[in-house]
Amino acid sequence: MHVTDELLHDLIDKRRYLHEHPELAFKEVNTTKKLKDWLSENDIAVLPYDLDTGVIAEIKGEKEGPTIAIRADIDALPIKEEAAVPFPSKNNGVMHACGHDFHTVSVLGAAILLNKHRDRLYGTVRIIFQPAEEIAQGAKSLVDKGVLEGVKAIFGMHNKPDLPVGTIGVKSEGLMASVDKFDITFNGIGGHAGIPHHTIDPIVMASHYVTSVQSIVARRLDLFHNAVVSITSINGGNTWNVIPDKVVLQGTVRTFQPEARDAIPRMMKQLAISIAEGYGGTVEFKWDAYLPVVNNDRAYEEVIQNTVKGLEYELVDAEPSAAGEDFAFYQTYIPGYFVWMGVDGPNEWHHPEYDLNEDAIKVAVAFFATLAVNALEQEAE
Ligand code: NI
Repeated sequence: MHVTDELLHDLIDKRRYLHEHPELAFKEVNTTKKLKDWLSENDIAVLPYDLDTGVIAEIKGEKEGPTIAIRADIDALPIKEEAAVPFPSKNNGVMHACGHDFHTVSVLGAAILLNKHRDRLYGTVRIIFQPAEEIAQGAKSLVDKGVLEGVKAIFGMHNKPDLPVGTIGVKSEGLMASVDKFDITFNGIGGHAGIPHHTIDPIVMASHYVTSVQSIVARRLDLFHNAVVSITSINGGNTWNVIPDKVVLQGTVRTFQPEARDAIPRMMKQLAISIAEGYGGTVEFKWDAYLPVVNNDRAYEEVIQNTVKGLEYELVDAEPSAAGEDFAFYQTYIPGYFVWMGVDGPNEWHHPEYDLNEDAIKVAVAFFATLAVNALEQEAE
């Protein structure tokens, strides 16, 4: 589908407006208002979901078929902009340093194009402008409001500064790691350091745990699964001659396979209990499931590859990232696919001098509009 110069220039203006007016997670009030205006100016229906921020729109094709969704995240970060752009943030201390302004206008552009080509759609395209990705709560809040009801599959992207414009990174299964947090408290009995047989020493339990826990990755995980278990904080004791009554460990686990994500906390808990009991103590194991794996469904790999090739953009194998992304929540309910969009930026995500090449807007608009047509056609077959 052809992106006219007129549409592209309009989207660049809108992106610069959003860049000048970034808003933090769940505070995207002005962005939401602007999106509603822009959608209605283009005769695109906004669905009546009761959302404080974020917008759900829909384009109904002229042919019968299922509903698929395209999602863009719309929030910014608490970072003071240092990029030398002619349209810097006017909201001091807040910056679109992850390129969500680019995601927003690209998906808006795809919606505008699709609305003009409803005759080519075998079904409906739901457009999800999602708040609060940066705090990993936006996707979940929309799922709770029912925005995935009746949706067969969902597609999304993240810009990728280290890929050139016109390059799209595709990889089935784990693309972005799950992010989980834990707190483990080893409880013993405190007492005199010179009389340890009257104590149960939690420092010894915790010390064994810190070294043994790495054996879960090395000895218990499938060779073809991978994970990082990092213990990042140890707290216990406050002087040289007293054995404390407890030691608290904190840390994080990252992995790319949902199976590994399920197995690791069970193994970690089992090890913690057995070490604590082995030394006569007890343990409290607190697991905080933060973000699932961005787990791309192989069933859509071919249609995505064919879309990229058909538009004569460059298809590359996506390099996975250990950063998390809350698109993963949608994929725990319905199949989805998330891609890298090359933007040729000078810095990585969340950098105060983050910037991108706006030529990528044209690529992203054409990609999502064409993908929607192709994916619905695939479902119709
Ligand atoms: Ni981001």
